Amino acid sequence: MALIDIINHKKLGLALSAGEISEFAAAAKDPGTPDYQLAALLMAIRLKGMDARETAELTLAMAHTGDMLTPSVGGVAVDKHSTGGVGDTTTLILAPLVAACGGKVLKMSGRGLGHTGGTVDKLESIPGFQTELPEEEFLRITREVGCCVVGQTGELAPADKRLYALRDVTGTVDSIPLIASSIMSKKLAGGAQAIVLDVKCGSGALMKTREDSLLLARAMVDIGRRNGRRMSALITRMDEPLGSRVGNALEVREAIEVLSGRVKGPLLQVALALGSQMLMLSGLADSVRQAEEMLKKALQEGRGLLKLAQMIAAQGGDARVCEDPGLLPQAKHQKDLLAPASGWFSRMDTQQAGEAARMLGAGRRQKEDVIDPAVGYMMLKRLGDRVEAGEAMARLFYNDHTLLMQAEAALTGSFTLSPEPFSPAPWILAHIDQNGKETSLT
Ligand code: URA
Ligand code: CA
Repeated sequence: MALIDIINHKKLGLALSAGEISEFAAAAKDPGTPDYQLAALLMAIRLKGMDARETAELTLAMAHTGDMLTPSVGGVAVDKHSTGGVGDTTTLILAPLVAACGGKVLKMSGRGLGHTGGTVDKLESIPGFQTELPEEEFLRITREVGCCVVGQTGELAPADKRLYALRDVTGTVDSIPLIASSIMSKKLAGGAQAIVLDVKCGSGALMKTREDSLLLARAMVDIGRRNGRRMSALITRMDEPLGSRVGNALEVREAIEVLSGRVKGPLLQVALALGSQMLMLSGLADSVRQAEEMLKKALQEGRGLLKLAQMIAAQGGDARVCEDPGLLPQAKHQKDLLAPASGWFSRMDTQQAGEAARMLGAGRRQKEDVIDPAVGYMMLKRLGDRVEAGEAMARLFYNDHTLLMQAEAALTGSFTLSPEPFSPAPWILAHIDQNGKETSLT
């Protein structure tokens, strides 16, 4: 079957057969396939959609274009995936806590994408930390320490790598079947037996509405279930940064402060909720309540921070940062952003706020850019807070004055202060279980 026939079928809104879908995945891997045909098919899918069967088949076909790992880690290999947000450092908190409770967390993470941060970039701000390890090495660390966080190897789902790059420049990122199959192809290939999804919802997320977030969560859970994986998804709010700090070393510092018990708040709340799902799917707890208690006990006893230190040391990093975060890279300058008027902090354009961090140098604007691990900002106010004119809303950490001006304008422009009081929604909006059943938590 020629690709032109498949494009024509999808153009007319027909469901593609299993044969057509495997042809598409193979074509995406084949360097001889022209980009324009792949791009045309992606746009037809973006406009006409795909049903659950097509989406699941595309995911598996993309996964099979590369290596399929079957990790042996001495327990249920459990992974967590966030669809991407700002100040979202849950991995660095939950991976050590789940490991401290007996879990085996094998986490394959990405670099920053668009306005969102990436765990691999954050970890690389720790002096010496290695995110590229041979397979035997990351399996050994997962077995012995209980958690290991590595970058995606280039051999997992190569078809997705090409399609993602094309989607980025053809206006076809925002398609639920394409997002679901892209994320899940890499997760299936990574081999985790249990996968917890954090589907972000709001102004800083890929999905802006609750309805779309639920559709994406259900699509991904369905794909995992059809492929024999234990699945669970939470829909969480992303209309302001989850932690107080945004920027690579700043976020590592915040994770250390949370694990040392000094900082509480939404970042810890969401990390505990996701970590509880990971313990449940790993068969280490019988109820969410029991799981949360196990994690909180590990936190209070300092066992999470100890696990983080062990993981950092195993991955070549300087584990002394856990005792002395001052060893992390620090920016030369600070500047407070003052509120121009009084009011209630009622809205934040969190995508723009993520862009502000990228402008300071915390993320890349071109593939080749080198990031500055030290820069970023700390939010001093949260949505719903009362703010007086002249009060500091955020503190910027920067190294370069010319970059500061742009970032400052973007961050200031992302805040809305209103004359009316405002109460934000809860952080955890809904849970989708293995069978796609929704429990609303609001
Ligand atoms: N992350 C991915 O890996 N793929 C998408 O399509 C969107 C986010
Ligand atoms: Ca290989």
